Amino acid sequence: MAMRRIGVLTSGGDSPGMNAAVRAVVRTAHTHDIEVMGIRRGYNGLINGDIVELGQSMVNGLMARGGTMLYTARCPEFMTKEGVEKGRDTLKYRGIEGVIGIGGDGTFRGLRDLAECGVATFGIPATIDNDIACTNYSIGFDTACNTAIDAIDKLRDTMQSHERCSVVEVMGRRAGHIAVYVGIAVGANAILVPEHKLDFERDVFEKIRYARNHGNTHFIIIVAEGAGKAIDVAAEIKEHIGMEPRITVLGHIQRGGTPTARDRVTASRMGKHAVDMLMAGKKNRVVGIIDGNLQDFDIFTALDMKRELQDSMYETAVVLSLSR
Ligand code: F6P
Repeated sequence: MAMRRIGVLTSGGDSPGMNAAVRAVVRTAHTHDIEVMGIRRGYNGLINGDIVELGQSMVNGLMARGGTMLYTARCPEFMTKEGVEKGRDTLKYRGIEGVIGIGGDGTFRGLRDLAECGVATFGIPATIDNDIACTNYSIGFDTACNTAIDAIDKLRDTMQSHERCSVVEVMGRRAGHIAVYVGIAVGANAILVPEHKLDFERDVFEKIRYARNHGNTHFIIIVAEGAGKAIDVAAEIKEHIGMEPRITVLGHIQRGGTPTARDRVTASRMGKHAVDMLMAGKKNRVVGIIDGNLQDFDIFTALDMKRELQDSMYETAVVLSLSR
């Protein structure tokens, strides 16, 4: 029997474009003549029954808004069997037959556990870290990178005037995608990522010396939070190079703001795909974009996949960071 009612939730760290994905889910569901319930505050909403109906008008004007109108949370209780069973019972009680989860790996683990309890699920990748393995691209990455680039361009102005060194910490707990992408885009002198073991002499000091010997008088060092703390990197530079770097931790500013065209369009495509596929009888899958094309992967397989930092991207960052 065809589904009559589905739920949608956002969970984990928010990312710009999550709202656009929620909007796409609601709009697409309307064309299939099914109801959408908004499960609020991530998996907490499933446990507590914090659920509202999402009519068409509730997603008006949502496309350009950062954050998530459904609120989000990390929910330790949902990592327990009892938590998942409570969630399953809430769904049953509310007549919700399928759940679309928008977020990262933690969100997909929750969906997988619901799937094991017999709930039809679909995942949409959204995290500024862009570290989800089954997709080349996760919603929010582009906006976060542009926010960081905008801030670092401003920093460069004052670093250049004062002939200083700037150490900028960008987000990326386990992945250096933001650091590498932003590092290339701002022409950083050094880019430190968690995927490559840090050698201060080779990765930082030599590069600063090289740049200085070739006439540079200001320097930009980008460090992914998973690779180390900006304050520690700055202390090493002070000790070994003798400069007093200024430190900027961009932090959560990278998670906000109006989504870029890429994030709006990707979120819209993924949201529509998830609903269309659920309606076609597919379940327990995660949407991905591979070489620009929408695909979907079994959720168990998707969670087993590992996302690497693209070698050619890292190499480009390393080669271009040598300033003459
Ligand atoms: O996963 C996205 C992310 O922004 C990471 O880059 C960062 O380490 C983490 O979330 C921060 O989480 P919180 O918002 O809980 O401080």
